[in-house]
Amino acid sequence: MAFGVAARLALLFALATCAVAGVTSEYRRKLEATVDMPLDADVFRVPSGYNAPQQVHITLGDQTGTAMTVSWVTANEEGSSTVRYGRSAEKLEQAAEGRHARYDYFNYTSGFIHHCTLTGLSHATKYYYAMGFGHTVRTFSFTTPPLPAPDAPFKFGLIGDLGQTFDSNSTLAHYEANGGDAVLFLGDLSYADNYPLHDNRRWDSWARFVERSVAYQPWIWTAGNHELDFEPSLGETVPFKPFVHRYPTPYRAAGSTEPFWYSVKVASAHVIVLASYSAYGKYTPQWAWLQQELTKRVDRKVTPWLIVLMHSPWYNSNNYHYMEGETMRVQFERWLVDAKVDLVLAGHVHSYERARRFSNIEYNIVNGKATPAPNRDAPVYITIGDGGNIEGIANNFTAPQPAYSAFREASFGHATLEIKNRTHAYYAWHRNHDGAKAVADAVWFTNRYWMPTDDDHV
Ligand SMILES: [Fe+2]
Repeated sequence: MAFGVAARLALLFALATCAVAGVTSEYRRKLEATVDMPLDADVFRVPSGYNAPQQVHITLGDQTGTAMTVSWVTANEEGSSTVRYGRSAEKLEQAAEGRHARYDYFNYTSGFIHHCTLTGLSHATKYYYAMGFGHTVRTFSFTTPPLPAPDAPFKFGLIGDLGQTFDSNSTLAHYEANGGDAVLFLGDLSYADNYPLHDNRRWDSWARFVERSVAYQPWIWTAGNHELDFEPSLGETVPFKPFVHRYPTPYRAAGSTEPFWYSVKVASAHVIVLASYSAYGKYTPQWAWLQQELTKRVDRKVTPWLIVLMHSPWYNSNNYHYMEGETMRVQFERWLVDAKVDLVLAGHVHSYERARRFSNIEYNIVNGKATPAPNRDAPVYITIGDGGNIEGIANNFTAPQPAYSAFREASFGHATLEIKNRTHAYYAWHRNHDGAKAVADAVWFTNRYWMPTDDDHV
């Protein structure tokens, strides 16, 4: 009898140990270097028609989606910057006038890059929009997000470090099959800078590649290191030049002073975008903005889900880019824990990792408490820089797996985050090697403000 109890206790202990041990998935199918799709690939095709608008993409034009900024490129001549839009494809009753600009990068001159913000939109409404008037007109559509409200459901796609390889194409196709309403993009878009002279034609091809999704739903942009294009040897000393010319963000509406850090309020989510490659030390503009944002502008009664995006992860147990996010973590982690942030999403590391709710905020340089510890107020950190870019997979995890790391795998993929209401959100990661619907890692998150349960022991 006594032995039976002991055995049962041992079994329970083993199960409990199992329940909290992290998983380093051994799943492997392909580890060879990935290659970019050739410039004459179908996905890069220039739309037919003289001066046809190409590289069409949209992002929120204000914080909540009653404005949408439409961007596109014309290659032959300037053309019109007008967008016509309305609730019926046959009747585009409203018009907005945009602006255009070109930029030079060493020996490259861009096409005419147009940006036009449509304002006065209603929430949760489908709009059709068209541009290219005077030459070749193309028509697209999008649905605005619902009015920010605590139980407004919404489905985000999470994609990072996408690039333009065959694997990138697989990632995007899988995301499309899983059908999100908007993408939280974790930085590193085109990887044009991997080419000699930062061949900016690869910025153009990337935008043509992703048009099939981003012309129809807003992508929320985070700036990664591959957006820097800082190359003094080419005389290119202004960081982010191609990125800022091509990808506007609604930073002014968010009270920010630079396009690299800002926030949006989508349905029941307040999404904060941070800039890993802009100053964030004490007293800097980003530091001051984030302090105000977290203490004054976040309202969990309206937008219960508080999500932070950044490029370089704070919790990364891969040797690739190991500890690069550490200085920003030291600067901001306590603020995020105090604010009970639900999720921190990052890219940069080309593999997948999900953390438990841990924090490392007790250390004060003299007390020796430098080990991350469980903390129910802490966010879950997800590294999802696994979009499939040309640099290949990061298959070199630290050993042993640290206690905070719940699941990690060196595969390409994407994730979806389905917010159901103020208390529950279903998160799922999909590796590209499986069908789009197959789930390789999933967890139900409970909201840190409305239902702060232990939701990370899965
Ligand atoms: Fe990166």
